[in-house]
Amino acid sequence: MEIFVEKDYEGMSLRAAQMVAIEIKRKRQIVLGLASGNTPLGLYKYWIRMVQQGNLSFKGVTSFNLDEYLGLAPQHPQSYWTYMQENLFCQIDIEPEHVHIPHGDVEDVAAHCLAYEQLIRQVGGIDIQILGIGQNGHIGFNEPGGRFGNSTHLVELTEGTRQVNSRYFLQGEDVPTHAITMGLKSIMNAKQIVLLAAGENKSDAVYKAIMEEVSSELPASVLQLHPNCVFILDEEAASRLPASVQGKREVAR
Ligand code: GLP
Repeated sequence: MEIFVEKDYEGMSLRAAQMVAIEIKRKRQIVLGLASGNTPLGLYKYWIRMVQQGNLSFKGVTSFNLDEYLGLAPQHPQSYWTYMQENLFCQIDIEPEHVHIPHGDVEDVAAHCLAYEQLIRQVGGIDIQILGIGQNGHIGFNEPGGRFGNSTHLVELTEGTRQVNSRYFLQGEDVPTHAITMGLKSIMNAKQIVLLAAGENKSDAVYKAIMEEVSSELPASVLQLHPNCVFILDEEAASRLPASVQGKREVAR
C-alpha cells in the first residue's frame, strides 16, 4: 500500500486527477470504477478542467459506478446516476454507452447485480477503482460486517450511513434503507485502487483501515491485502496516523 498525504483537499484531488489522467492517456480503452459522495468532487472538477483545456479525453474510457440507492430511478434528483451526470459525465466527452451505474429501480435486483458483474468481466475488469470511505470504514456501500466474498449485491444501510447521507435529501426519512453496491470482492478485483479521504471526520476510519488488523468490521481494511492500492489523504484525514507514516508521505506496508 502506498500512502500520499497532501496538505489539503485541493492537493488530494489534484494528485488523484493527475495520477489517473496519466493512465487514461497511456491506455485509451481504460476501465474506471467511479465513486460518488463529496470526496471525489474535486477530482472530477480537475478532470473536467483537463478535458476543457484539451489535455485529456474520455473517448474510449468505460466507467462503472460503485453503487446506487435502491428505489431511486436514474432520473431521481438524489440518485447517484443524477450525481454523476451533473458532476462529471455531462461535462466531459465520455461516450454515454460506456457509462454504467447500477439501476436502483429494477424489479429483479439479483439478476441486475449478476448482469453488472458480467459486464465488468466482459470488458476485461476494472483497471483503476476510485474509492471514498465512510466514517464507519465502508467502501462503496459495503457496511461493517459484510462478507469479503460479496460481488455486486443488495445491502441494508446502517442508521449511521443513512444519517450521514441525509444531508443530500430533503428529509431524513427520504434516505433509502437499501442500496445496490459492488461487493468487496468486485472492488478487490480491480487492478489498481485509489482511495481518497479528506477531513478530520475520516481520520479514525483511515487509521483503522491502514493500521489495524484486516476485519470485516472495518471494510476498508481489506485494501491492505490489495497488491496495488494507493491512499491519497489530506492532512486532516491522515492526522491519526503515526508520524513515521505521515512523515514519509509514502509507505509500503
Ligand atoms: C457514500 C458512498 C460511498 C462514499 C461515502 C463517503 O456512502 N456510497 O461510496 O465513499 O458515502 O462519502 P463522502 O465522500 O461524501 O464522505
